[in-house]
Amino acid sequence: MIRFEFPKDFILGTATSAFQTEGSPYADGKGETVWDYMARTTPELFYENAKPEPGAWFYRNYEEDIREMKELGIKSFRLSISWARILPEGVGRVNQKGIDYYNRVIDLLTENGIEPFVDLYHWDLPLAIEELGGMKSREFVGWFGDYARICFESFGDRVKYWSTFNEPGVFCHQHYSKGEWYPFEKDLRGGYLAAHHVILAHYRAVKIYREMGLGGKIGAVVDLAAIYPLDPSGRDVLAARYQTERMGGWWLDPIFLGKYPELLLEGCPEIAEIMPEGYAEDLEREFAPVDMIGLNYYYPAIVRYDENDTYKSTEAKSYYAQEGQKFQLYPAGIYDVLMYLSERYNSPEIYISENGLGKVSGGDRDSELCDDERISYLREHLRMVVRAARAGANVKGYYYWSHFDSLESRSGYRLKFGLVHVDLKTGERTRKKSWYYYKKVIKDNCVD
Ligand code: NOJ
Repeated sequence: MIRFEFPKDFILGTATSAFQTEGSPYADGKGETVWDYMARTTPELFYENAKPEPGAWFYRNYEEDIREMKELGIKSFRLSISWARILPEGVGRVNQKGIDYYNRVIDLLTENGIEPFVDLYHWDLPLAIEELGGMKSREFVGWFGDYARICFESFGDRVKYWSTFNEPGVFCHQHYSKGEWYPFEKDLRGGYLAAHHVILAHYRAVKIYREMGLGGKIGAVVDLAAIYPLDPSGRDVLAARYQTERMGGWWLDPIFLGKYPELLLEGCPEIAEIMPEGYAEDLEREFAPVDMIGLNYYYPAIVRYDENDTYKSTEAKSYYAQEGQKFQLYPAGIYDVLMYLSERYNSPEIYISENGLGKVSGGDRDSELCDDERISYLREHLRMVVRAARAGANVKGYYYWSHFDSLESRSGYRLKFGLVHVDLKTGERTRKKSWYYYKKVIKDNCVD
């Protein structure tokens, strides 16, 4: 029998984000974020008018939650800081109560032997920043840098794992080119302009972190599907390369190599045309290398060549699952993506910063608690992570998404990823069967 044992010192943890989990969106002087604003002004965009309140009640309940995390045995907890709790106006005035809250959370985690892995930005843009021009303004680089510096100064003595941005490809385009998130713009040029500023803001934060000499690790979190050609013998192979560059390379190349992917710049005239002037020089001048990368892996994508598509490729099969769950499942994809990153970017230190099963809730709590499917999901994906480590990927950790059932962006509260069930009315927590399974995996440092 094969033993799927993790390497020594492998980090098994869980992940969350502020706007999905904290709740209390107006507590203690927090400024409004684009999510609070959308929920207030366009509630119909959210499934069943879901609001950031209550999230998973974490803002109010973190003490009990961290005790529970200790029982689960996680070695690290991934959380994000809400920019608007620290700087309610996005810039300028610091809200001490926001700093105090994260200090309490970080202290309690470290006292309980749980390493905080902190994202500076997980989608909850302060509304004030959007009003100043948002990510399409070049000043975003400085605004983000100032915010990052405050976080490093306030928490950098205890936080040793930092990520700048979570899934930048998602938020830049959702805000500015797909038009699904405030300010609901549909302009490819805007999406790429924002993306360029986000990369420069990432470099800025990394540089500030280095200059401060705090001795931890810093990187970013990128989502990448396992992308395969429909027909592995023809032009679909090229389509898969295009898709991989579009989703991953657009971020990973600047993060690791200080440039955008040539394949897209040369092969996609529509993209090359809309790039801001001086973009290549910007990257060359500002480049700041990272210590590690976070990988969010959820699904496979099968693509075919399409001459008329901007990126020369179309999905041959939707990566959204049809019934009851969010994505198509393909555990071997996590192995393929880990090996791909290792080969392409010279064996970087990788953390699986997210991977998890989201099921549509039918309202039956008992069946949600008895989540055998989530157990199989975890087992199969974790086995693949062990295989990738054995095959030479420098993968150092895995964070299950999500610790709690929480707000799933515009899908509201009906998609549930948690190991811990949360009663939205009372905040009561109940451990799912998968919680007990993961606890054993952590204790044994081995998957069955
Ligand atoms: C990735 C995002 O980072 C997270 O916020 C989201 O909840 C999960 N995907 C699941 O869809």
